[in-house]
Amino acid sequence: MGLYLNILALVLAVLLGTYVIVFGFLKKINEWCYVSSLGEKKHSLPPGDMGWPIIGNMWSFLKVFRSNDPDTFIYNKVKRYGRTGMYKTYLFGSPSIIVSILETCRKVLADDEQFGLGYPLSTKQLTGKKSFHSIPNSEHKRLRRLTTAPINGHEALSMYIGYIEEIVVNSLDEWSSMKEPIELLNELRQFTFKVITHIFLGFTAESVMGSVEKRYADLNYGMKSAAVNIPGFAFYKALKVIDETLRRASVSFCNFREAKVDVNINGYLIPKGWKVLVWNRGIHIDPQVYSNPKEFLPQRWENHQPRAGSFLPFGAGSRICPGADLAKLEISIFLHYFLLNYELEQIKPGGPIVYLPLPRPVDNCLAKVMKIE
Ligand code: HEM
Repeated sequence: MGLYLNILALVLAVLLGTYVIVFGFLKKINEWCYVSSLGEKKHSLPPGDMGWPIIGNMWSFLKVFRSNDPDTFIYNKVKRYGRTGMYKTYLFGSPSIIVSILETCRKVLADDEQFGLGYPLSTKQLTGKKSFHSIPNSEHKRLRRLTTAPINGHEALSMYIGYIEEIVVNSLDEWSSMKEPIELLNELRQFTFKVITHIFLGFTAESVMGSVEKRYADLNYGMKSAAVNIPGFAFYKALKVIDETLRRASVSFCNFREAKVDVNINGYLIPKGWKVLVWNRGIHIDPQVYSNPKEFLPQRWENHQPRAGSFLPFGAGSRICPGADLAKLEISIFLHYFLLNYELEQIKPGGPIVYLPLPRPVDNCLAKVMKIE
């Protein structure tokens, strides 16, 4: 009996020791390195948790984003720390502040003086030194002017309507003639690439298109508006569905920025050099911005008066997506022809969805496209 008690005491001591080492020491390392080192300023940081050494909170982020409900990531923070709209964390290899409500996201995206781009190193390496992510501000302005002009505004976009229509009509015809189901998502990605290469490169050779499109898909794996209002067009009404899809799917769940100096927002400090994760997705599922935010309700856009900064699928500020109008035009034309003349029969309706690097059905929407007779 005595021996048994001794072994039990030993086991308990080992367990207690392990607990103290794991939670009392390891769990504090990031806190010491990044928070305590700020001295008195640490008291102004927003609430949050710096996670484990090296990985920070990546584990819990991945766990939630690989589940079928990625929004619990932000909902859990609100539940635990309150609706402060700012949370300290350690994600993607850097100490970071998540900003997740309308007011805080707007402030960060609008302020180029105090915030620069802050994408993870992998993104910069994959997109290269000459990409929008890496060039200096002055060059960025010039490049934006060059790339934005051909794909923005009614006049520029109306030049491509005929071409986009041609691809949509031909593609739908081809898909509906196939006996086997197609991966609709992959087909649609090819469609968007045909349009972009036509606009920027002026040619549409299938082999080139295929290789550009493949490279783009690989790249995405490695790294992580205005409505086109053309009265008189039948697809004009589809914009409500498109806006609701962009809100609910939140293709880009966050934009990465970095504080150039110590910044104070709503009484909380964002220390110089820390990343700022502008959680667009958080605004789109905030019940104080959209009632029943998890429901897909296109009718919510009817007579909707949006609050500034409440709809950020394309980001905001000087980095707002220059392709937003073109993307909406392509979707509108596709929906117009698709809804009028075709039906979709998904092979596994309601199947699982993955959210990283981008939200998509696991089977890439394997489906048959059928022409309505
Ligand atoms: C539904 C489709 C699209 C979505 C949801 C989307 C989303 C976004 C977002 C959120 C940003 C801002 C990133 C940031 O602030 O850090 C962005 C930037 C950008 N997008 Fe898009 N985009 C889409 C389609 C397109 C298309 C069709 C093009 C090209 C024709 C394009 C080209 C770009 C470029 C070049 C940037 C970088 C802008 C800069 O840094 O100044 N996007 N996009």
